[in-house]
Amino acid sequence: MSAAEKQAKRQRFEGVFGQIVDDLLDHMKSQNMPEAALDWYRRSLEYNTPGGKLNRGLSVVDTVDILLCFNDANERTRELSEKEYFEAALLGWCVELLQAYFLVADDMMDASITRRGHPCWYRVDGVGNIAINDAFMLEAAIYYLLKKHFRERPYYVHLLELFHDITLQTEYGQLIDLITAPEDHVDLSKFSLDKHHLIVVYKTAYYSFYLPVALAMRMVGVEDESAYKRALDILLPLGEYFQVQDDYLDCYGTPEQIGKIGTDILDNKCSWNINVALANATPEQRKILDENYGQKNSECEQRVKEVFNAPNVDIKGRFERYEAESYDRIHSLIREMPEGPGVKRAVFVAFFDKVYKRSK
Ligand code: IPE
Ligand code: IPE
Ligand code: MN
Ligand code: MN
Repeated sequence: MSAAEKQAKRQRFEGVFGQIVDDLLDHMKSQNMPEAALDWYRRSLEYNTPGGKLNRGLSVVDTVDILLCFNDANERTRELSEKEYFEAALLGWCVELLQAYFLVADDMMDASITRRGHPCWYRVDGVGNIAINDAFMLEAAIYYLLKKHFRERPYYVHLLELFHDITLQTEYGQLIDLITAPEDHVDLSKFSLDKHHLIVVYKTAYYSFYLPVALAMRMVGVEDESAYKRALDILLPLGEYFQVQDDYLDCYGTPEQIGKIGTDILDNKCSWNINVALANATPEQRKILDENYGQKNSECEQRVKEVFNAPNVDIKGRFERYEAESYDRIHSLIREMPEGPGVKRAVFVAFFDKVYKRSK
């Protein structure tokens, strides 16, 4: 797909967001909320929901399109109707609202500075702890929209269950991410790549990769449970790969590229980088890591980065090899997956293409 086609897809999707904001504000108005409350909610919705890469939301639309509009030979047979497009995009925006909800809270918990090139919402003048309630309202928007647009559909309960179940799984992931990174007690011996795997599958892969595809499958009426299992078996590894990229970029991406300032070393996070470094460090380097990781101090952060960059540790080189290996591994998973009604390889190829070798 050309850059212009990608841009057009994104713009059409963004075009639906205005309608979503109108729906939500109409409801607020019907509850006799004052103008100042409407203005506040609009500002929170617009600050926190669009403005990212929109991979999750666009993947709902792309999956519905692939499942309904392509034949087995992967040729386009039709276009989505306006109504089908709108409903897929609405579900896509519901995933982006879930993302907004998690990110507003995550930035407070991680003491982050910027997000998508702007101050984190809780750091905006006059917001502060009100951001906690704003996060709840971003989440509540999902269920208002689902009820308004899908209540009469036979798959309505499946949509609700997907959002509820995957929200809980993500919150388990955030919990283990946070308790593995205590602020006042650094103990690198508690880290491992197994622990990292568990954290990232729960905090990222379910909601970022499985949820968009499973919602699309529900919307087009896939009922065969084995189809969902086959999707999960590819999308969880894909989500793990995505979070490893996020961990890598936290240290090696520039803030201009990634729109955020990395905090993983200061925050004592059990990230991919530190686990790979621990597995390759000499005893002297290990001592430097023990003394400097998780300290709220940029000189300590710099010393950790020096160990990451040492020739024997070489996080950059190891990440490049991991990325190439992941390409082969995930493409084999896709190739070996038996296709069937509701699970097409093209769905996973399209999602993988959105994130492979990303720099933001
Ligand atoms: C950030 O997700 C949070 C993670 C799960 C790593 P993205 O990198 O997809 O963020 P946006 O939505 O594009 O800003
Ligand atoms: C966040 O992971 C995952 C969720 C928001 C659920 P990170 O903490 O690594 O995300 P960033 O790096 O702040 O975007
Ligand atoms: Mn974070
Ligand atoms: Mn991160």
